[in-house]
Amino acid sequence: MKPDQRDAYIDRLPKAELHLHIEGSLEPEMLFALAQRNRVDIPFDSVEDIRKAYNFSNLQDFLDIYYQGMAVLLTQQDFYDLTWAYLERAHADHVRHVEIFFDPQGHTERGVAFADVVTGISDALADGEKQWGMTSHLIMCFLRHLDEAAAEATLDEALPYLDKIAGVGLDSSEVGHPPSKFTNVFARARSLGLKLVAHAGEEGPPAYVHEALDILGVDRIDHGNRAMEDAGLVARIAGEEMTLTVCPLSNLKLCVIDEIGQSPVKAMLDAGIRATINSDDPAYFGGYVNENYRAVARALDLSRAELRSLAANSFTGSFLPPEAVAHLLAEIDHYDAHTA
Ligand code: ADE
Ligand code: ZN
Repeated sequence: MKPDQRDAYIDRLPKAELHLHIEGSLEPEMLFALAQRNRVDIPFDSVEDIRKAYNFSNLQDFLDIYYQGMAVLLTQQDFYDLTWAYLERAHADHVRHVEIFFDPQGHTERGVAFADVVTGISDALADGEKQWGMTSHLIMCFLRHLDEAAAEATLDEALPYLDKIAGVGLDSSEVGHPPSKFTNVFARARSLGLKLVAHAGEEGPPAYVHEALDILGVDRIDHGNRAMEDAGLVARIAGEEMTLTVCPLSNLKLCVIDEIGQSPVKAMLDAGIRATINSDDPAYFGGYVNENYRAVARALDLSRAELRSLAANSFTGSFLPPEAVAHLLAEIDHYDAHTA
């Protein structure tokens, strides 16, 4: 496929996004505007100043700025506006279904009410479904640099809102905070009927991926790059049809890889792994989901069949019911059959 033709194919390809931190979609323009609207002091004089700060040499470098950025989010309306802006962007990329992470502990520790966070986000998600038929699930992440008791308290706070929350996840600083630190809270989340996901193998070793699978019993692994260092683990992930939510531009910006051509996406597909393409924190990493597809497609010379598989994986790896997945896979079939 010629590059232009491939980019055009990616553009309108129906797809889901399964790894997106809503706070990571806070664009510098909105960050600056919310700082003014809410009279929050930020250490930047302009939007350009903010953009200049987005240079990271590892995950922690990024997280320091990410937590600073979210300090401008205070009201239910702020969370609605943030989510709506992301949904409009995702809709433009022909995203048909989203599974969105949020970090309640990053907000409640600043005095923001849990209810305002969840209600603002989920009202926007409901409007996205009304306007475009874009379906969604909300996944509440625990910050792994905090202790398990804090995660338990967050799960307690979420109890009245479980009709709006499909699952729990695990994010923030990975190394030194293995999945096993959260064994009990994940077991309780499972008993409440929630889906389970965890960031594992982004910077952390393959052992963390093993722990996420064996000890937490996750339904999906976020990132999973370093699983590729362990042949037995690769075979297991493929055999169990475990979905990995890979984030190529994030990996590049956080120096998990040195160039986009080192993205493990193609190697994962070749190994029979259900890999997907996602944007992680697009406002910070320089691209929404289609830009991630385009970047890896270019660097790894992905075929049309591989791109199609990645999009299909995003639906089969979602937490949608089988009928909805079948419907969306049929949309891909229809698109493929009618695209030159
Ligand atoms: N929080 C937001 N983005 C993250 C990432 N890529 N890894 C871990 N925690 C995060
Ligand atoms: Zn992430």
